[in-house]
Amino acid sequence: MRPRHILIAGQGATATVFATHLQRAGVQPVLLRRPGSPPHAHALHRLRRRHAPESVTVHLPSVTHLKELPRRPDQFWLCLPSQALLDGWLGEQLQALGNATQVVSWTPDVRDRTRLRQYYAGPILQGMVTFSAFRTPQPFTDLPAGTAWYLPATGAVVQRCPAGRDLARLLRAGGLPALTSRDLPWLAARVNALLTPSAAALEHCDWSLQALRRSAQLGLAARGADEALRISAHYLDHGVGRPLPRGLLLHALTRLLPVFSPMPLAPFLAQHFRKLAPQTRLMLDSWIELGHRHAQPCQALQ
Ligand SMILES: NC(=O)c1ccc[n+]([C@@H]2O[C@H](COP(=O)([O-])OP(=O)(O)OC[C@H]3O[C@@H](n4cnc5c(N)ncnc54)[C@H](OP(=O)(O)O)[C@@H]3O)[C@@H](O)[C@H]2O)c1
Repeated sequence: MRPRHILIAGQGATATVFATHLQRAGVQPVLLRRPGSPPHAHALHRLRRRHAPESVTVHLPSVTHLKELPRRPDQFWLCLPSQALLDGWLGEQLQALGNATQVVSWTPDVRDRTRLRQYYAGPILQGMVTFSAFRTPQPFTDLPAGTAWYLPATGAVVQRCPAGRDLARLLRAGGLPALTSRDLPWLAARVNALLTPSAAALEHCDWSLQALRRSAQLGLAARGADEALRISAHYLDHGVGRPLPRGLLLHALTRLLPVFSPMPLAPFLAQHFRKLAPQTRLMLDSWIELGHRHAQPCQALQ
């Protein structure tokens, strides 16, 4: 069934991009701000390679509590960092939902589903964001206040099931290419196992891709990724499958990605992972704690 009312927790970069495309698909999204957080500007700047950004103004209503809504939402999307799932505020909102609303979690930590289950017994669908977005202004771009974003071939991947197929169809109807995956939790676990230790290594190198290439941190990130993959596989009761790219490939990626990026890549990554530093640490801590609990190697992650 096509949802009409979608409540989106968060009013940051991903929430704004998703909400705009839901509006274009004819849905009425409402953003859920955390208390004390004033409403943000909602200009959306789409970055394009070799073309000037395309900017539009969007009007996105927002509330700070579920009870401000005239009716229970059909879906509740979580466009938040993973550590927000530990907050009493979000737990309270989830408990107020009842159990009939479809919760869609776009958060990346491998333990997020278990965390959500503490508060919510209804249907939970997992998704993975594959576009890049950041709040503006930023020192590395002259775009005015709002959200800048770049869409590669796909904007989102969701779990393949009837609800996931409907959701991907809805996003596509709103102009955001979306796919489904038969094994989304494992796909997301692989991507996050690769990305998160690399982000930590980049932080160690003061956000310089060149310094990272020359540093021992790159090899450490590759070993950390392998550990994170094995720990996630154990946690999700899944085979480890193909190994992740080794240090040499990571080295090549630090050269190639800046060439194809529509924004200055290193400054983008610096603002992105500084903003999400508590989430990166939570994810590393999750793997380390699970590694200790199940006697699996986690020295590189540590
Ligand atoms: N941006 C991307 O390119 C991208 C790509 C892939 C995946 N993701 C994932 O998407 C998620 C959200 O990222 P984002 O880029 O949208 O972040 P963002 O722009 O920083 O927005 C995060 C939103 O969550 C709210 N928030 C932060 N901490 C919270 C807490 N403890 N409790 C309640 N609300 C909290 C923020 O509130 P305030 O408004 O008060 O600050 C903000 O509205 C992250 O898990 C990230 O890894 C992002």
